[in-house]
Amino acid sequence: MSIEPPSRPEIENLLVEARTFAPDPAFVAQANAGPELYAEAEADFEEFWARLARERLRWTEPFHTTLEWDLPFAKWFLGGRLNVSENCLDRHVENGLGDKVAYHWIGEPGDRRTLTYADLLREVGKAANALKELGIVAGDRVAIYMPMIPELPIAMLACARLGAAHTVIFGGFSAEALSDRINDAEAKVLITADGGWRRGKAVGLKHHADEALASTPSITAAIVVDRIGGGVHMVEGRDYWWHDIVDRQDPICPPVPVDSEQLLYLLYTSGTTAKPKGIIHTSAGYLLGASFTHEIVFDVKPDDVYWCAADIGWVTGHSYIVYGPLANATTGVMYEGAPDTPDWDRWWQIIEDLKVTILYCAPTAIRSFMKQGEAYPARHDLSSLRVLGSVGEPINPEAWLWYHRNIGHEKAPIVDTWWQTETGAILISPLPGITTTKPGSATFPLPGIVADIVDAAGQTVPRGGGGYLVLKQPWPAMLRGIYGDPDRYVQTYWSRFPGMYFAGDGAKRDSEGYFWLLGRVDDVMNIAGHRISTIEVESALVDHPSVAEAAVVGKTDEISGQAIFAFVILRAGVEPHDTLAVQLREHVAYVIGPIARPKFLMFTPDLPKTRSGKIMRRLLRDIAENRVLGDTTTLADAGVVDVIRDKSGSAEED
Ligand code: WT7
Repeated sequence: MSIEPPSRPEIENLLVEARTFAPDPAFVAQANAGPELYAEAEADFEEFWARLARERLRWTEPFHTTLEWDLPFAKWFLGGRLNVSENCLDRHVENGLGDKVAYHWIGEPGDRRTLTYADLLREVGKAANALKELGIVAGDRVAIYMPMIPELPIAMLACARLGAAHTVIFGGFSAEALSDRINDAEAKVLITADGGWRRGKAVGLKHHADEALASTPSITAAIVVDRIGGGVHMVEGRDYWWHDIVDRQDPICPPVPVDSEQLLYLLYTSGTTAKPKGIIHTSAGYLLGASFTHEIVFDVKPDDVYWCAADIGWVTGHSYIVYGPLANATTGVMYEGAPDTPDWDRWWQIIEDLKVTILYCAPTAIRSFMKQGEAYPARHDLSSLRVLGSVGEPINPEAWLWYHRNIGHEKAPIVDTWWQTETGAILISPLPGITTTKPGSATFPLPGIVADIVDAAGQTVPRGGGGYLVLKQPWPAMLRGIYGDPDRYVQTYWSRFPGMYFAGDGAKRDSEGYFWLLGRVDDVMNIAGHRISTIEVESALVDHPSVAEAAVVGKTDEISGQAIFAFVILRAGVEPHDTLAVQLREHVAYVIGPIARPKFLMFTPDLPKTRSGKIMRRLLRDIAENRVLGDTTTLADAGVVDVIRDKSGSAEED
């Protein structure tokens, strides 16, 4: 793996400028987290997590051992048994919170549903009984492919209630991506919908599911939610409407206690090969990490109205729409659709209507709003907001300041939260009543987390320097492995720096010890906060009959952070033309999903390669960015670069 930490000029400049934002004393006085948490965790991190696990979770059987660390394989809270859905639902209802709203759901067309904790418990019980009827038992996997509707968290919790695992596949993924994941997980049942609403249109989902299910031998049944109406093709003996099979069930379904380390879910994410990795998250440690960080990072109080605007198809939604907030009995908001439908103030309207107090979203969304101008938020009363969060990629200081002024009205603290699918929960972030923030910095590791920045030899880089972000101590919400591939787990995360978890990110620490994330250092792109590997897109391109070879890099993009730039070599006899470029981009969208559609595509007669035949992405990135080229002496044919560079003005654009 060749890794070079990228540089971020805007952050370098900001380091010089050094604007800081200290917490407001009034906020400090009421904050959930105090500085003593850091000291407690440092004194004895195992006892710190053990205390939290005892206090925060309801156990059917208490654990006897906090941690078994057989590097890099961790087991937390051994001997303990619990049920995750019971922790998210039953205990709140039993504590008198049955009438508290769990979700305010807003459909894109404007329809609404309000689900209390008692409602959710009932719906989850019915869905769990339906899964039982279809033969699902503890340890089975269930695939979920759905739009952002209440049945999605209900389906997840129904699996957890039975001790079965779910794997949620983002609704924007293609049929092929869906079947690959179903087959890797060997899921028995698929829960899906006829479609969902997006940008004023009913977008079908079931036909993708049907296409996927043609090559998934493990699937015995599918449950289909009727969201958009109009009917879809149903396969006799395989497909059941949710309103038929779920609605007729008994709402009571006793939660099945499971071992702390029972698989809770798999979530597939891109790595540096074409095959996505099934990230393993287990029950107790994950739930503790999600709920604890949710409470301290967002300073969540019982009367807050909290909105994480991510899609549940990604880990942000798993941890901060479903498990963390529900474990904390929080009132949440779920919105089905696009931020610009019917107009660019849809989010601000929702915040005004529901008096949202906490908003958690991605820098790419903030940049899109910024581009539309401040008149949209200015039209609405956003005074209820008291904490703002950011996740998914480094937030540029301009976007941070725009968010601070126009959404937070210079009073709501911003928490820039660094974490990954693999980490399960936020690891590096300000605590809003404690940390003085700097726009663009995720600040410091949370209590219980030991992060460091090391050089290529694994040595700690002194303050002021940059290198590779690593984690040096296990944490309860950490991934337990890659499904079916323990060697890849060791290889991917634990081999680059022995004894340390390597996150794949470059980072810098300033003279005051603040962490500044600098982006991925491997062949993984971050497109609008979503992880996509260069090789997945290359494989999708080469899959097309006209393509001989392809190389893909991320190009800096004003809105999405990075945009996909593809260099394509056509097969002999195929002539490059604009229609073909469009076809190839659509082909990638078809194979992987619309998020992976290259924004730029350039035909080239050759690609720059090292003598050993490795594509020199660094040079391609320079070309994509129109930068002056770096050292080319390792090139097999230096002339190739000139050919490509001369042509780079003619790249196709959206
Ligand atoms: C990668 C993880 C964690 C949920 C969303 C993405 C980047 C994430 C930040 C941040 C800078 C960030 C990293 C990381 N990233 N949050 N606050 N500042 N970079 O989850 O798909 O697993 O991607 O997103 O590069 O490695 P993911």
